[in-house]
Amino acid sequence: MTNLLFPDGFIWGAATSAYQIEGAVHADGRGASIWDRFSHTPGKTRDGHTGDVACDHYYRYLEDVALMAKLGLKAYRFSVAWPRILPHGRGAVNQPGLDFYKRLVEALLAHDITPYATLYHWDLPVALQDAGGWPQRDTAAAFAEYAGVVAEALGDRVRHWITINEPWCISFLSHQLGEHAPGMQDWPAALAASHHALLAHGMGMQAIRAAAPGAEVGIALNFTAAVPASNTPADREAARHFDGHYNRWFLDAVAGHGYPADIVADYSAAGYLPDNMAFVQPGDLALIAAPNDFFAFNYYTREVVAAGSQPWNYQVVRPTTPRTEMGWEIYPEGLYKILLRLHSHYAMPRIIISENGASYLDPLSADGHVHDHGRIAYMRQHLVACHRAISAGVPLTGFFYWSLLDNFEWAFGYHQRFGLIHVDYATQQRYPKDSFLWYRELIAGNGLAGG
Ligand code: FCB
Repeated sequence: MTNLLFPDGFIWGAATSAYQIEGAVHADGRGASIWDRFSHTPGKTRDGHTGDVACDHYYRYLEDVALMAKLGLKAYRFSVAWPRILPHGRGAVNQPGLDFYKRLVEALLAHDITPYATLYHWDLPVALQDAGGWPQRDTAAAFAEYAGVVAEALGDRVRHWITINEPWCISFLSHQLGEHAPGMQDWPAALAASHHALLAHGMGMQAIRAAAPGAEVGIALNFTAAVPASNTPADREAARHFDGHYNRWFLDAVAGHGYPADIVADYSAAGYLPDNMAFVQPGDLALIAAPNDFFAFNYYTREVVAAGSQPWNYQVVRPTTPRTEMGWEIYPEGLYKILLRLHSHYAMPRIIISENGASYLDPLSADGHVHDHGRIAYMRQHLVACHRAISAGVPLTGFFYWSLLDNFEWAFGYHQRFGLIHVDYATQQRYPKDSFLWYRELIAGNGLAGG
């Protein structure tokens, strides 16, 4: 086995998001978000867990940054909570909210950790939800206003921005499947939301570039590899639709190809587009397709899909291959293939993986360690896939592990643990896991020993 060295300057990072770690939901003038409301609605999260306290990071950020420094991180991806900055979604700016992120960024820079700030990781202010939320076009304009405020305040120190995290989750998971806030089950609303989330990205990019000239901006899309259950035309049709629904819908629009015609046709045939894409207004697609400075994406798993009565009624078939605690199949080949596709089909000039990681529930052992061999194996396999892609010419320049620390995993509450750092929620004690030590070695050596 040879060593797998990464290119010089490769960005080794870790990621989190505001609602999943900060807690302090009433502190310093923060407004409420749709996740406060959703998590406090009975039955929406496992055991009624909420992000009220989470990892208490709002008060412990210095300790957390010190752990990042210990890990040797080159970059840290966090998200800014919109309701801390604009408690009512638009209008009055809450200075103490901005000050928190200023302090966080100062602490990162003091340790030579490059901040990557995500502006929207799902915590829409409730005032905007009450005005219609993402199915309303105005929400995109509100996002641009908010993006400009944050970029103005932090843009001299934060030079890397991600506008929107995972528009598929914002639209379909939240407005059609109803598993995330605001918990709607409405296809036309979800499709309008998908367009407005992308529009928010386009408008937000303009606002950031105006407020922070020279800053680098991108969007973070999520990808799920789609594999047909068999080679029959019907299963391949189902996989085509699945890939279009999850991946191409967003990717094609961002890459300047517009919404994929086959998926528009599928949605129309299914009756999901009663207004025939009327939400797309002149100029929108050009805004959405404005070049990103880097292209970011999140990857966890694949789905194996089989035919339903129509392509959009596909069924997900669960193979018996190894899975993480989330029930997600471990499929590093999908990461490799997506990287190649982004390069060869979409010609993305610079790519970063903004999330990749695994949930395992290894307990804290008596010696104060967490022996999370499953996570290390998952990371190793996915980094080997990254290295293969780089060797094949893919311009992959960074990797952010999800997540720095165990945190509030949305509808799963605290029952899933993705962290490199174990959090004891009763005491808020942090314990670096074995994967933390492994990743630290890897970062220090800029690659994998014994590949
Ligand atoms: C992604 C989210 C992130 C986390 C991981 C497990 O979809 O962006 O917040 O929940 O999944």
